Amino acid sequence: MKKTVLVTGGTGYIGSHTVVELQAAGYEVVVVDDLSNSKENSLAGIQEITSTKPRFYKIDLKNKELSSEIFSTHKIDAVIHFAAFKAVGESVANPLHYYQNNLGTLLNILELMKQYDCENLVFSSSCTVYGQPEKLPVTEDTPIQPAASPYGNTKQIGEEIIRDTINSSDKLSSISLRYFNPIGAHDSGLIGELPQGVPNNLVPYLLKVVGGELEQLSVFGGDYNTKDGTCVRDYIHVVDLAKAHVIAVDKLLDKKSKRYEVFNLGTGEGYSVLDLIKTFQEATGETINYKIVDRRPGDVEQIFADTRNANDNLGWKAERDLKNMLSTAWKWQQHLMRKS
Ligand code: UFG
Repeated sequence: MKKTVLVTGGTGYIGSHTVVELQAAGYEVVVVDDLSNSKENSLAGIQEITSTKPRFYKIDLKNKELSSEIFSTHKIDAVIHFAAFKAVGESVANPLHYYQNNLGTLLNILELMKQYDCENLVFSSSCTVYGQPEKLPVTEDTPIQPAASPYGNTKQIGEEIIRDTINSSDKLSSISLRYFNPIGAHDSGLIGELPQGVPNNLVPYLLKVVGGELEQLSVFGGDYNTKDGTCVRDYIHVVDLAKAHVIAVDKLLDKKSKRYEVFNLGTGEGYSVLDLIKTFQEATGETINYKIVDRRPGDVEQIFADTRNANDNLGWKAERDLKNMLSTAWKWQQHLMRKS
């Protein structure tokens, strides 16, 4: 019988790509999302790609009673918990909103998993937990730094809550995946990132500039201590990331994981903002109107992953390069432009 995976935040950017890969791997998928930062029509995209529409619940996971319906209706074998707010600036302006949402939903999920004997959890974490590390590339043993934002703190505390819960139980096992910078979209161009309002992140902003919706891309800082003065990040294709979640679920269900494990998910390559702009132009033939401006407060200078733990112990390796990330992102943007 097919195993069932509950994907919280499954209509969102990383969630929707993961649903596609889970279905391709033979899992039954149940999606829950409150649609606060995504649209239900990503399910239509998933259906077009996989010919299967996952069962969908529009529920706010902060409401435990409503959420328990999902567990009483389906025998959930594993949960992938994506559902969370993720805008760094917004979390500084409204921290309680972030703590309530990101931690409240996690607490409810853990309680429901206990109540309904679900033993396997994959948690969506972030490289933000490392701050600006002293040594690069970053391994999972790099000391966690005081969080630079309430958003980052919710990821650190989330990992701690899971660790404590595992210590108190002899059943729960969990894998936390620390993402570097996910970009790109499904090859079909039918699902992708859908930021609401003016995007904060580099690639969604860049796409709107090239698409003519925004005037100019501001490159935040040209005087960092990097090869060209702009910040360096480890960009990772969202489909590679999605596949890592399937492998993590397999590992938990096959009882091949330790009780609690953490993996960095990146390519191991660092690219500057100017590298990314240049690669986008080469990949698409489009020209980007950009200008180097002041630094953005809170940005780390450079960060990229040591991927050996994920390669050796998760059995996963990123396959796609920056060019592929950017050409698929552009394909998705063109799909959006055709629809509007
Ligand atoms: N950048 C620009 N112009 C923009 C937007 C971004 O130059 O309009 C630059 C940033 O300064 C940074 C790089 O592009 O150097 C990447 O910025 P993003 O906002 O795309 O991503 P971040 O690395 O800041 O943030 C990501 C995730 C967060 C996570 C953080 C941890 O989006 O969720 O990594 O470092 F917390």
